[in-house]
This record gives sequence, C-alpha cells and structure tokens, in this order.
Amino acid sequence: MSHPALSFRDVSVRHEPDDEPSVASVSFSVARRERIALLGLNGSGKTTLLMSAAGLLAHDGTILVDGVELTRHTLAEVRGKLGYLFNVPEDQLLFPRVIDDVAFGLLQKGISHSEATTQALEALGVLGIAHLAQLPPHHLSHGQSQRVALAGALITSPPLLLLDEPSAALDPPARRSLTRLLNGLTAAVVVATHDVPFARSVCTRFVVLEQGRVVFDGTDPTAVLERWERATVRL
Ligand SMILES: Nc1ncnc2c1ncn2[C@@H]1O[C@H](COP(=O)(O)OP(=O)(O)OP(=O)(O)O)[C@@H](O)[C@H]1O
Ligand SMILES: [Mg+2]
Repeated sequence: MSHPALSFRDVSVRHEPDDEPSVASVSFSVARRERIALLGLNGSGKTTLLMSAAGLLAHDGTILVDGVELTRHTLAEVRGKLGYLFNVPEDQLLFPRVIDDVAFGLLQKGISHSEATTQALEALGVLGIAHLAQLPPHHLSHGQSQRVALAGALITSPPLLLLDEPSAALDPPARRSLTRLLNGLTAAVVVATHDVPFARSVCTRFVVLEQGRVVFDGTDPTAVLERWERATVRL
C-alpha cells in the first residue's frame, strides 16, 4: 500500500490555547511526488500549517507523514522523513561553518564525517554556492542563507519537503535554478509562497487558505488570484 506523503485530517492549530485557531479544520493530502503550492494572503495560516506538519506547533486532528501519525512519540521518526525550509532561513543555520550546517542531517543518520562533508559540498555545488562552504552563516546575505538552508533541507533526500517562501529572497538566476531543481526531485513538495509565477512553474496543484481555512484546492487558482487583485488593505 502506498501512503500519501502527507495528510491533514480535520487539522486545527492555535498559537495559544485561548486563541482563535490560525488553521481551522484543514483536510487534504499530498500524494508521493506531488508538488503543491500553498497560497494565501498574509496571516492566512500557511506558515502555521507547515510548522504543524513538522511537529513545530501542536495540532488538533490528525497529521500523517508517509503513513505515520505525527504524535509526541513519533516526532523523531516523522522529522526524519521531511526536509523543512524556514521562512527565516537564518533561524535554521546553527553551526560555525556553512559546510557543517549542511552536513548535519547526514551525520545524524550515522554517515561518516568525510562522506557527509563530500555530499554536503556536492549539495552546495548543485545550488551554485560551493564557494560559501567555509564561511560562517552570519557572513551570508539573506538569499545565500536561503540557499544554504535549502541545501540542508535537501541533503538527506527526504520523501517530503516543506518549503516556506523558498523563492522570496532569490535573484532571477537562483530562482530559475531552484525551479529546475524542484522539478527534478522525486520528493513530494509543499511550497508556501506569494510568488505565483514560481508556484506555477513548480506545482501542479494549488491549495488556498483564507483565515486558516481551505477555500480552494485545484489546478487553476486564477479566480481566487483575480479576487485578491481587486482587494486592497489599509496599511
Ligand atoms: N507566534 C505566534 N503567536 C501568536 N499568533 C501567531 C504567531 N504566529 C502567527 N500567528 C498568527 O497566526 C495567523 C497565521 O499566521 P501565519 O504566519 O501562519 O500566516 P502566513 O499565511 O504564513 O502569512 P505570511 O504570508 O505573512 O507569511 C495570523 O493571524 C498570525 O497573527
Ligand atoms: Mg508565512
């Protein structure tokens, strides 16, 4: 039996116990190898939903990653099945040098230091940033940090990638490389993004959130996007 890569079943997430839910009764599944864009205006719940799937926020309802229900007891197993790119990539770069950061996931899986370093250099090369390997992460630009964090998320070839605004800080050539790279992966991918051209070039399905609820799930989100085009907000 082949499980979906990720399933949400009636999932709600609150940031504080007494808060209104930021994600409310969300149900959808992501098939293996499927690439889904999660769209929604600021504050609609995209980051909250991705974080809940990685066990970074508590949820009500059921989340399954590769057939394993996410609970306190399965957290480590579930984390081993997914790669996560934070919205603020600097938050996930923790080691003194870029190369050590990217190699970390492999070391955790018991791969030798020399092999992990070799593979980490390759991963940096694929993203065009091998020259950054020896730098401390705090010497990187925001876009460079994003690419390093992505290399770390990809390094163990997880079956599921959760990417929070992966193209936001990238220059056009880096965005094209990222598009090519994601299109060449066998992993299932969920991309939270405001970058609709990027989403269209990578994803075949669009799930749209409004106030934490799924308001669209399909292949062509044009009607929702046009409605947003007509909307304005008070700044
Ligand atoms: N740490 C937090 N504590 C309390 N509420 C939060 C916290 N983070 C987010 N929220 C609330 O949860 C809701 C959803 O936020 P979320 O960050 O998931 O939105 P988003 O769709 O990712 O938005 P954006 O497009 O701006 O990244 C918002 O109402 C936000 O105010
Ligand atoms: Mg967000």
